[in-house]
Amino acid sequence: MRVLVIGSGGREHTLVWKISKSPEVKKIYVAPGNAGMEINAELVSIKAEDSDDLLSFAKEKKIDLTVVGPEAPLVDGIVDKFTAEGQRIFGFSESGARLEGSKVWAKGFMERYGIPTGNCSVFDDSSRAMDFLKNNDPPYVIKADGLAAGKGVIICNNDDEARAAVNRIMMKKEFGEAGKRIIIEEFLTGQEISIMTVFDGKDYRLFIPSQDHKRAYDGDNGPNTGGMGAYAPLPVYTEELRRKVQKEIIEPTFNGIKRENIKGAGILYFGIINSVDGPKVLEYNCRFGDPETQVVLPLFESDLFEVMFEATKGNLGSVDFQNSSDAAVCVVLASGGYPGSYKKGYRIKGLDKAIETGCLVFHAGTGKKNDKIITSGGRVLGVTAVAPNLEESLMKVYEGVDQISFTDAFSRRDIAMKGVING
Ligand code: GLY
Repeated sequence: MRVLVIGSGGREHTLVWKISKSPEVKKIYVAPGNAGMEINAELVSIKAEDSDDLLSFAKEKKIDLTVVGPEAPLVDGIVDKFTAEGQRIFGFSESGARLEGSKVWAKGFMERYGIPTGNCSVFDDSSRAMDFLKNNDPPYVIKADGLAAGKGVIICNNDDEARAAVNRIMMKKEFGEAGKRIIIEEFLTGQEISIMTVFDGKDYRLFIPSQDHKRAYDGDNGPNTGGMGAYAPLPVYTEELRRKVQKEIIEPTFNGIKRENIKGAGILYFGIINSVDGPKVLEYNCRFGDPETQVVLPLFESDLFEVMFEATKGNLGSVDFQNSSDAAVCVVLASGGYPGSYKKGYRIKGLDKAIETGCLVFHAGTGKKNDKIITSGGRVLGVTAVAPNLEESLMKVYEGVDQISFTDAFSRRDIAMKGVING
């Protein structure tokens, strides 16, 4: 089988690594990929947004399965385009990707199917949004409706921050069309749980639940990032909570998807918060999470290629789907300054030594110069350790992290601590 993976981050490196383990797969292409993927795949210099070029490439190379990593091509309808031309592709259609592509649409979906989520108001007029802020009390979460490269969700602790967020999104139009409408939502507290599922049009399976660390610095301080680390399993996800999430969130969501005749086989990611009033949906994503994938796939024992391939045929029921009982921790190494501005092009040292500790090293923002690996993004690497329990994974992961160095590198030192303390 010949596979094309679309994307270039740590999630896509993990996908390529996992797909390469399938005995069915003879060749993997990745577009555009990154420096770490060259061991398992051939890099193709087509951007993830160039769906026409990707389609031509898939036809020319007789690709058996295309796997879409990031959300933007899904929201832009790449699956509909490939499917119309008879090309097999794993991911939701444009109609399904709206669950991530429009936060307003997703809220309406949750309302239609009685799925618990935070209370919110929707605005397409900035003066009305400002009036709402005058008559209500912070904290709020203010969200741009559309995709904003992970930056469109702003936590506002006071009125000044909330007014500034409305100003940035609606008046200065920092996120363009994505900010034409906004949601002002109540701020919920509690532990977050990421549940990734695979759907084949009628049936679904659950990967192991995991937890992301969105803030930049230890103790959940600092600005929101794309994610600074993840771990699984989650001691907070008790059997009682699992049953509640299944009954109140997962089942009604898939019933809604089927009822609305949403097409495509893909990943549905549930971002859930275990609030004082019970579990609630913070967001849906129509793709694998990053960096959750860097712990969930190393803990997935079955053949991911087979799962995705059969899912596109509506055949999920026929495949083996086994999550391991081990634990995994992933720590992200980032460029100094991230998620704000940062410099690129620094030489990365110690990658081989990190791998010698038994850790997996997934590349995100890396490139190559004179055959040396250099930094080329905010989140640079994800180091993952797998061990029989969280404590051992935690010790092992920092052994790996400590082998790696580049100018101004930083990482959180408390990834998975909540899990170890709760456990
Ligand atoms: N880690 C959160 C996300 O992938 O959206």
